[in-house]
Amino acid sequence: MISDPTSTDTPTAVVTGANSGVGFHTTRHLVEYGWHVVMVCRSEERGSEALAAVREEYPDARVDLVLHDLGSLDDVVVLSDHLRALPRLDALVNNAGLYRPSLEHTADGFETTMGVNHVAHMLLTLRLEDRLRRPGARVVNVSSEGHRSGRLRRAPIDAILRGRQPKFGGVQAYSDSKLANVLFTREIVRRWSPDGTVAFSLHPGVLSSRIWDNTRGFVRALSFLIRPFMEDPEVGGRATAACVTDDGLAEDDNGAYLKKFEVVKAAPDGLDDDLALELWRVTEEAIRPWLSDDGSAPP
Ligand SMILES: NC(=O)c1ccc[n+]([C@@H]2O[C@H](COP(=O)([O-])OP(=O)(O)OC[C@H]3O[C@@H](n4cnc5c(N)ncnc54)[C@H](OP(=O)(O)O)[C@@H]3O)[C@@H](O)[C@H]2O)c1
Repeated sequence: MISDPTSTDTPTAVVTGANSGVGFHTTRHLVEYGWHVVMVCRSEERGSEALAAVREEYPDARVDLVLHDLGSLDDVVVLSDHLRALPRLDALVNNAGLYRPSLEHTADGFETTMGVNHVAHMLLTLRLEDRLRRPGARVVNVSSEGHRSGRLRRAPIDAILRGRQPKFGGVQAYSDSKLANVLFTREIVRRWSPDGTVAFSLHPGVLSSRIWDNTRGFVRALSFLIRPFMEDPEVGGRATAACVTDDGLAEDDNGAYLKKFEVVKAAPDGLDDDLALELWRVTEEAIRPWLSDDGSAPP
């Protein structure tokens, strides 16, 4: 499904959750800027429709579709092996995200919100370390202003990752996962920026996307109330694409958290280096069986 795999002249970005909302519009904008985009989607039907829409708008686009479910870490391993075979990989946009109102688990026993929004993306990023830990490479983690309500110190992090804390709340789990996105970005920059990697996290805006469809109760009522004020997901896609392509940002603000197009200060917990390190270590331990075939760090 990958077009002209021998060509190495076009910068290449991978966008997860590319069939809808922020991911779809990030793809559109990167294609418009001349990038080759690999769209990672889980549904063949939704992915093919989105791919066709991009190709219809940009007939000369270099855009490809791969089908993988981030709810399965085995599938993330297959995805990363596929991506490592690309002739170029310049940017990884960890965008796919979901909200779950009640406690669910992924195939691997992680709480689903944390499992998809944080754990799967951390595994994908670490398995691509040899491609991303170098000058010119970028990682963009789509977070949310919701990270400000994240409370990763309220229980042992491993218990939060696996949904084993006493009382589950969908909003808390989502906020925790978005705080994890901010902290993961911070730790990537601490570890990999000496080798040239640039990374950002961002809030893409309050957007009228499908992510609200799974909300219940108060959050659902709130989403109906604020829907008239929500922005088009195109704005979030443009902001995310700017994190990939803006050279000024890379020079001055490596590791920054952005609210759409503006660098702002993350919540105090999002600036906590000890928490960032602890989250990295605990998650790395939890995903060790998938890091490489023998459980060691990937080459
Ligand atoms: N919308 C907002 O107001 C808002 C605000 C702040 C932050 N964000 C963040 O923006 C990001 C994108 O969300 P969105 O608003 O664009 O929502 P969306 O339209 O629902 O898009 C989410 C994308 O993630 C994909 N996805 C979900 N679970 C997946 C899985 N297990 N494997 C692979 N892909 C999966 C979805 O695929 P399917 O179509 O197959 O479900 C979809 O492509 C999320 O990280 C979200 O937290 C959104």
